[in-house]
Amino acid sequence: MPDVVACLPGDGIGPEVLDQAVRVLGALPLDVEIVRLPFGGAAIDETGDPLPPETLAACRAARGVLLGAVGGPRWDGGAVRPEQGLIGLRKALDVYANLRPARAGEIDLVIVRELVGGLYYGARGTRDDGTVFDTCEYHPSQVERIARRAFALAGSRGGELVSVDKANVLETSRMWRRVVDEVAAAHPGIHVRHALVDSFAMEIVTSPERIDVVVTENTFGDILSDIAAAVTGGLGLAASASLGDDGPGIFEPVHGSAPDIAGASIANPSAMLRSVALLLEHGLGRLDLAEALDAAVDTVLVARPTRDAGGSATTGEFGDAVLAELEQALLTAEAR
Ligand code: NAD
Ligand code: IPM
Ligand code: MN
Repeated sequence: MPDVVACLPGDGIGPEVLDQAVRVLGALPLDVEIVRLPFGGAAIDETGDPLPPETLAACRAARGVLLGAVGGPRWDGGAVRPEQGLIGLRKALDVYANLRPARAGEIDLVIVRELVGGLYYGARGTRDDGTVFDTCEYHPSQVERIARRAFALAGSRGGELVSVDKANVLETSRMWRRVVDEVAAAHPGIHVRHALVDSFAMEIVTSPERIDVVVTENTFGDILSDIAAAVTGGLGLAASASLGDDGPGIFEPVHGSAPDIAGASIANPSAMLRSVALLLEHGLGRLDLAEALDAAVDTVLVARPTRDAGGSATTGEFGDAVLAELEQALLTAEAR
């Protein structure tokens, strides 16, 4: 039985980068079946729903979900937004742990972003007087499970964990700190410190090479991961894996649909391809292939970069070069 991978191209450059991911997956020595499903703005156009029930059912049944990106100005002001599909899918699969690695040169850090709580999922609405509100809500159990993940990850890496919050102002952050400290008691081997999000944002810019694992709530993680991407080559390179306790994970770039370059075939597919590597590692249990793919992407980023990375390769040419590198690497591995 092949492993089914649900592919959700979405909008803007989503389909452009996902095409390269599908080519690469197809070229690897794996028994994988790829199913493409409507999602985001494209699904709103087709069905009125950014997450059609058939798409959700196929994702639930899959080994992993590969996602391009959603959103764009076309759907601004509509009754339903493409992004709601993404928020709904993350919740439905309960993929609470969003790993966002950033590496380049001396820098090798991972942001562990809580993905199914906080401001994105709290009470919201409009009061009679016109005041509009979104609420940041966390239950201690939500903090505990993400903290456990982050400690486990730190234990498998450099043993350094930073928990980022705004405990000088927010109740949720003060609870977050308390729970992280409780979990810390069970992990004496890990060095943990707490940092406030504003100054930590600066730290990512000024001394990213000193950071190992970061754990933080949903909104802070969203913002900090774009900063971490910026100091390690840009959004075109930043991948993510969203994992639950069981069931399929979602593997997607950190970047969005990039409406400013959509349709121009110049998007950097590295973030998407590195997300395929995360799928290989976490979804398909093939760390060997994940490492080969990451190495191929690293090589091509130097040899044949896209415009954002200082070159002139098109999205497809970048994909061609990665395929050629991989073929070479797999042949060499076979010969050994
Ligand atoms: P964006 O990430 O789409 O783009 C920010 C900048 O980075 C743009 O200049 C873009 O051209 C560049 N960029 C992004 N990915 C690139 C790539 N692979 N190669 C080269 N350059 C790249 O952020 P935005 O413009 O703020 O958002 C656009 C839309 O995307 C919004 O609707 C937003 O909601 C959505 N979005 C979706 C996701 C997702 O699907 N996971 C993530 C972020 C934003
Ligand atoms: C991301 C994106 C999403 C988020 C949006 C599109 C809902 O910015 O994956 O980082 O905020 O989580
Ligand atoms: Mn984001």
